[in-house]
Amino acid sequence: MNFLIINGPNLNMLGIREPAHYGSETYDSLCRRLADYCKSLGVEYEIYQSNHEGALVDKIQEAFFKGIDGIVINPGAYTHTSIALRDALSAVSIPTVEIHISKVEERENFRQISYIRDECIKTITGHGTDGYLEAIDTLLQYCRGERIENQ
Ligand code: DQA
Repeated sequence: MNFLIINGPNLNMLGIREPAHYGSETYDSLCRRLADYCKSLGVEYEIYQSNHEGALVDKIQEAFFKGIDGIVINPGAYTHTSIALRDALSAVSIPTVEIHISKVEERENFRQISYIRDECIKTITGHGTDGYLEAIDTLLQYCRGERIENQ
């Protein structure tokens, strides 16, 4: 299995930005935790972060040509604005889990739209940074042909 973990704008600021919403774990610590988790499961992985919409689209397209088996994506604020990201996910048809650290459904109205949601096999919100590990588990289950419960 070869998974791609994508983080959108401002997620490199984890540990600094709004700890009440996003917790105190830094982005580096999250990356180390994800790396250790993937290794412990025997999963090949790449972790990618960008603050730029087009770079995120390029990365999703690249995943297709590299034959990536699954994507975990937290598009940050682009969740609520980007049809380009949605179209990219739709174009590549790679099983994808949407993850948000905060409980977006309990936040502002402008966060209630996710343009990528119905291109994803599951959405995880409000489980903090542990949600990324759950997303890896979900992709593995999906790749093994197990049933996925969406929240
Ligand atoms: C976020 C929620 C988004 O609304 C926000 O713009 C982010 C982070 C989350 O992980 O909870 O940047 O995706």
